[in-house]
Amino acid sequence: MSEAQGKLTIHTKQRGAELGDLFGIFFEDLNHAADGGLYAELVRNRSFEFDPIDHPDFHALTNWEKVERGGGQAELRIEDSQPMNERNRHYAVITIRMAGDGVGIANSGFNSGIPVRVGEDYRFSFYARRNESFSEPVRIAIESKAGVVHGETTVVVDSSEWRKYEAVISVDETNYSSRLTITTGGSGSLYVDMVSLFPLRTFLGRTNGLREDIATLLAELKPKFMRFPGGCLVHDGSLNPDDRNSMYRWKNTIGPVEQRPSRRNNWRYNQTLGLGYYEYFQFCQDIGAKPIPILPGGYDPHHKRIVPIDELGPWIDDALDLIEFANGDLSTEWGAIRAELGHPEPFGLEYIGIGNEEVGEPFFERYSYFHQAIKAKYPTMKIINSSGPFAAGGEYERGWQSARENGSDLVDEHYYQSPEWFLANFDRYDGFKADEPKVFLGEYASWGNTYYNALAEAAFMIGLERNAHAVGLACYAPMLCNVDYVNWKPDLIWFNNHEVFGTANYYVQKLFMHHQGDRLLRIEASGFEKPQGIEAKPINGAIELGTDASSVIYSNVRIVNNDSGEERTFTGWTAELSDTEKARLAGTAKQSAHLCVTDWTNYTLSMTAKRTDGPRGFVISFGCADDDNRLFWEISGWQNQDSMISSRVNGRNSCLTQSLFTVENDVTYELALEVSGRQIRSYINGKLIHDTEDKLPLIQPIYCSSSVDDNFGDTIVKVVNMQDVAVYADIAFEDLPEAGGRRVESYELSGHSLKDENSFEQPQKIVPVQRDFSFEGSSFLHEFPAHSVTVFRVKMPVV
Ligand code: AHR
Repeated sequence: MSEAQGKLTIHTKQRGAELGDLFGIFFEDLNHAADGGLYAELVRNRSFEFDPIDHPDFHALTNWEKVERGGGQAELRIEDSQPMNERNRHYAVITIRMAGDGVGIANSGFNSGIPVRVGEDYRFSFYARRNESFSEPVRIAIESKAGVVHGETTVVVDSSEWRKYEAVISVDETNYSSRLTITTGGSGSLYVDMVSLFPLRTFLGRTNGLREDIATLLAELKPKFMRFPGGCLVHDGSLNPDDRNSMYRWKNTIGPVEQRPSRRNNWRYNQTLGLGYYEYFQFCQDIGAKPIPILPGGYDPHHKRIVPIDELGPWIDDALDLIEFANGDLSTEWGAIRAELGHPEPFGLEYIGIGNEEVGEPFFERYSYFHQAIKAKYPTMKIINSSGPFAAGGEYERGWQSARENGSDLVDEHYYQSPEWFLANFDRYDGFKADEPKVFLGEYASWGNTYYNALAEAAFMIGLERNAHAVGLACYAPMLCNVDYVNWKPDLIWFNNHEVFGTANYYVQKLFMHHQGDRLLRIEASGFEKPQGIEAKPINGAIELGTDASSVIYSNVRIVNNDSGEERTFTGWTAELSDTEKARLAGTAKQSAHLCVTDWTNYTLSMTAKRTDGPRGFVISFGCADDDNRLFWEISGWQNQDSMISSRVNGRNSCLTQSLFTVENDVTYELALEVSGRQIRSYINGKLIHDTEDKLPLIQPIYCSSSVDDNFGDTIVKVVNMQDVAVYADIAFEDLPEAGGRRVESYELSGHSLKDENSFEQPQKIVPVQRDFSFEGSSFLHEFPAHSVTVFRVKMPVV
């Protein structure tokens, strides 16, 4: 081994901030994370409630088809006149015209079909009733698409009232594309609802349980907490809890599954709510994660639905009742309900979040009412406020301001950025204060699931850990993705209907969760080279004026060199652009116009801009090297409510700052963009709207942190080497008790190309390797390979 290039000194007696519940997980039912994912139900559209409100292609018979065998003929229709209950109104009616070899219905499940495995048992259940002329037994079978039976049973429907029938089906063949058939003969009508098929093998064998393989992968992370049930899914919806598209109201999600309403999920599908609050709490307990529920705050920023302040009572009661449901004793109304559902012991709720990614004053006005009511009744409950969907800017600041004013315990920050942004912002929390609300980094990810993304996130997580005085909680998002129903990527874990794998990002999270430690230890890096960076290049290059889905006109364009005073006026130059659907259909769409290329490093670009048509607005690109590398100022953006400055590196966008702004048609705006080095300011009608810096990534010679695990006394050291060469370092421990020799558990992620990814074919391509060793005295020399993450656990007691 070469000589040490530097030294890491771990001061084992100098303890810093508590690490508490720092690293956890985020669950949202998007990408079919619950239905068709973690929730082990195999029947899709089990209660015939799919509806075009969920998705324009959906209807009550989505994933169902009629079965007519050997000359059989039947009529299949959906009715709702005599429902099994008011919340589950639709059911299927099979009227037998000609029995043949059997008639009925078949369900095709999620993905390629219903996955079953040889030797395993499946619990079938349905609610059914019959009319007077119906008397035949009903055959339930799991079959291949070609009709080969893998397992079957028979039930006798003997009542004209809705009743539940159950049976266990043993399967004699593995088939991941099978279907469930319900067939019968004779004559008359059979009425069917709530058709369900679960593997008996669920996580910990629970009924209405979770898919064992996915749940196990989550449990194996050993997260300190789980945030649920979302995401945008929490607050995207109407105000009436009985509406199909209501916001996520937890009281709808507990109790018998057949009495839970179907919900339109804002990710454009149907949510059964079979995985509801009771199951979330139970799962958190099962995997040793503290539950962190997020409740809507009476405001939907996506559709501007706002509960009047004097009608906020039931929303606040939802929060108070949830705390009682989780923690109340059996003498309380909601504690008793919990016990009735099967869990007399409290779930031990410590945190509650109000709002998700909230923007706009109406939310923050309402937040105070929640905060005061919760603190008045539950003073020790830790309350999480929200700071919008971006890393900086007006709404981010508004969230922090509200948190300070209200005394929120934590502030939920969200950002999805390029890996380069994460590297450039490794020190983001260095200046945050210990006596302020703590950061809950409730959603973050770099764009991608490659080894490079995982490394960049690891470096950033070192920064989170080192700032545990200010950062209380952090979780990667989104967590789960069904490969056939992708709403969002990257994701931590990918699955289909029978396989699952953790990404490289997953294994980084796992390392940090397994080896979080309880308290920071002081660690010093000395003797290493200076950080390496892309030379501090200024923001210059091409400038383009553009639009997004709208028609706009730019004129009076000029650019002034703020160093020399030189001015370039584009007299008579106007850009009339149209990117509307109409223009696209007519073949006349033009999205952007090239203005000029500049090598100035300190300049102001100004213009007037008007939108004449369309839902969005202006896009001013600057510092453009090519389509994939540039900065841009968008005015209006998604839902015409933002002004944002973003940087795009290698095709991946990072929003640097965002503020609220709405563009109106036929109004002329004076826009000015001031660029000085890497500092960017922008003005609308003379008013400063953004002031931000596009930081370039600096690669530290080594990223490191240290902590102590109080349970075992272990000293933990984490090191990320982002460089493309190995780093040799002396690892020295100050104040270690005398010992003859010490064992070190060492876990290392290394040896991969930056583009490598795990996949269904190679699920374990990128996983940490454990190599233990011992050392004598108080230090050892170690080679940290190029592009690696290393965790040492120096074991106590002495070997
Ligand atoms: O994690 C995916 C989505 O990203 C979440 O629903 C939302 O909160 C954020 O915008």
